[in-house]
Amino acid sequence: MRIFKTVAGLRAYLKNQPLEPTLGLVPTMGALHPGHISLIRRAVTETDLVVVTIFVNPLQFGPHEDLDQYPRQWEQDCQLCQQLGVGVLFAPTHQEMGITNNLQKTTTTTVMPPPSMISPLCGAFRPGHFPGVATIVTKLLTIVAPDLAYFGEKDAQQLAVIRRLVKDLNLSVTIKGCPIVREPSGLAYSSRNQYLSQEERQQALALFKGLKQAQDAFSKGERTAKGLITIVEQELGLNPGIKVQYVSLVNPDTLTALDTIKEVGLLAIAAYVGSTRLIDNIILRVRQPIIAIDGPAGAGKSTVTRRVAKALNLRYLDTGAMYRAIAWLVKGSGVSLDDPGAIAELVSQATLEFLPSTDDTAPRLKINGEDITEAIRTPDVTALVSQVSAQWAVREKLVRYQQALGKKGGVVAEGRDIGTNVFPDADLKIFLTASVAERARRRWQEFQGQGHNRITLEQLEQEIEQRDYRDSHRSLAPLRQAVDAITINTDGLTIEEVTNKIIHLYHH
Ligand code: PAJ
Repeated sequence: MRIFKTVAGLRAYLKNQPLEPTLGLVPTMGALHPGHISLIRRAVTETDLVVVTIFVNPLQFGPHEDLDQYPRQWEQDCQLCQQLGVGVLFAPTHQEMGITNNLQKTTTTTVMPPPSMISPLCGAFRPGHFPGVATIVTKLLTIVAPDLAYFGEKDAQQLAVIRRLVKDLNLSVTIKGCPIVREPSGLAYSSRNQYLSQEERQQALALFKGLKQAQDAFSKGERTAKGLITIVEQELGLNPGIKVQYVSLVNPDTLTALDTIKEVGLLAIAAYVGSTRLIDNIILRVRQPIIAIDGPAGAGKSTVTRRVAKALNLRYLDTGAMYRAIAWLVKGSGVSLDDPGAIAELVSQATLEFLPSTDDTAPRLKINGEDITEAIRTPDVTALVSQVSAQWAVREKLVRYQQALGKKGGVVAEGRDIGTNVFPDADLKIFLTASVAERARRRWQEFQGQGHNRITLEQLEQEIEQRDYRDSHRSLAPLRQAVDAITINTDGLTIEEVTNKIIHLYHH
């Protein structure tokens, strides 16, 4: 692991990476705990080179807040990052970052998020905090220029503000939100938990307890802000050591207040436990379940997915057909595959309509109003799909489209990055695989059935091995198993057996 304290050192090192690695950034203020560790672990599995930054940012602390007291544990943090497989630790001084004062006194350029996003929740009690966060995060994203940057859902308002600034400033980074990590007691990990006495730790449990009770009520049908907030307030009110700042229900993307939850709500708390300010939240989602099925080519994903969809009456999101649709569009347009700019231009202006099916018939697909359901099944489209789907702009467009289709849930989708990228919060994730020998044997039988016998079993095995390697090493959407996916090895199993296994897992 390399440690840099200067922007020049970090930039020179990153610029001189030989193989253009996928870069992941995890910004922190140090005093690393399991919450930070989960972000770092995820970055390490999803990218080739991870940069962790440790910078206690004065801009985001108010004049009477805990900047001087904030825990600092450099040696321990370094060791931890090293053990986790971090490539670079960036720990600049305040001077190096051009920041010496808090936001009230600063003379640096400031990034100002929209007032509607920084006036509610914590923003109401910490003026200047989110402009301070937005400014430093913009600087870090500019210095490191990562492909992916990881932030915790624990700081839900911060995550929403950062997503928005990336969109508004057209920054070329994908923001990954990571779930809250909690102690076994339910208390969300925070660097500030170090300030709590034994007794205060006990009292602090009321935050999650209140949220849990609201979640239970939500799952029994309570949808109103008033009802949900009252449940949390009552639990917190039982505790004389707790001083509530706010309990609010908002839209997690825009942060505007909600009266009732129609699709999704963020129920968030800030409260003082003694003199320590803690925050916590939960996301409440009205959504049908989502099943994500990923795995290597030839493991039987599409047949199984179709059957699972039918048996469970879910929509089958045929992501493969969507990539075919774009390949068809590219082919018809005459645009060269070596011209990513032209492909991006073409794809960004295209309108795709996917009319999913719940039975065995193929879903209908339209692009720019033209029904191309049958047209995408030709060999020349097949020949183009893999190159077209390796284009960043194509991936971006389709992932966003698939996420929009899955917003209300009730879908089963298969691919290579459904559980890791498209629906990271899917209710059931399956990694469907089979040995190379088995996949080669199935393919060979298929070829025999079609009368092709020019390729031997050994050649097929080699081809599959090479394809697996390419699939898991490509920089864009490589095949990776989600940490929470259940592996099913289909060797020796029939399609029915695999389908039934998934249905069984779904019901349990
Ligand atoms: P810090 O509080 O150190 O947190 C760094 C990252 O870890 C944030 O994205 C935060 O949301 C995440 N995190 C903290 N506790 C977590 C938990 N229990 N579970 C999951 N994720 C958790 O947030 C900041 O630093 C700063 O504002 C920063 C973004 C670095 C800008 O200065």
